[in-house]
Amino acid sequence: MIEVRPLREGEALAASEIEKACLSTAWSEGQIRDRSPETVYLLALVDGIPAGILSASLSLYDGELLNIAVLPDFRGKGVAQALLEALYTAMQGLSELFLEVAESNLPAQRLYEKNGFSAVGRRKGFYGGEDALVMRKQIC
Ligand SMILES: CC(C)(COP(=O)(O)OP(=O)(O)OC[C@H]1O[C@@H](n2cnc3c(N)ncnc32)[C@H](O)[C@@H]1OP(=O)(O)O)[C@@H](O)C(=O)NCCC(=O)NCCS
Repeated sequence: MIEVRPLREGEALAASEIEKACLSTAWSEGQIRDRSPETVYLLALVDGIPAGILSASLSLYDGELLNIAVLPDFRGKGVAQALLEALYTAMQGLSELFLEVAESNLPAQRLYEKNGFSAVGRRKGFYGGEDALVMRKQIC
């Protein structure tokens, strides 16, 4: 069973370990603990085991997806989809969601396309030598 809920106090280490295992731009335990109040940080558990995270920065009008990651053993089971759906619920009343994704990261691009994101721009060399695609989704 997949459960998605806000990260709780004392779970920053588990979240940072998921980030470290999956992302080149992982946040440390301290960065997760000291995140700004505008940052939504969600944890996905599969049968009670921490399996995925999502972070997003929300403003009055729109949001930016900062990170989404699912541990390799739990991929392909709908965990990322469940995290995104929980984010849309948390974003009620906001109009748009933006994100950056590496041009070569096709699994993530497929996930975002399935969720109604489309590419609206490109940031040259955003990931070291690699370009990022900027993607946008209309929420309401
Ligand atoms: C991208 C990532 C978050 C997907 O997580 P996941 O839990 O396996 O994804 P889900 O099972 O919820 O898949 C939802 C949809 O995403 C797409 N998708 C996910 N993995 C895919 C893959 N390997 N190849 C193609 N499409 C994929 C599919 O459209 C899928 O829908 P479907 O199952 O109906 O085909 C995961 O692969 C990951 O953590 N990657 C490393 C970190 C990363 O790249 N994060 C994004 C940074 S921008």
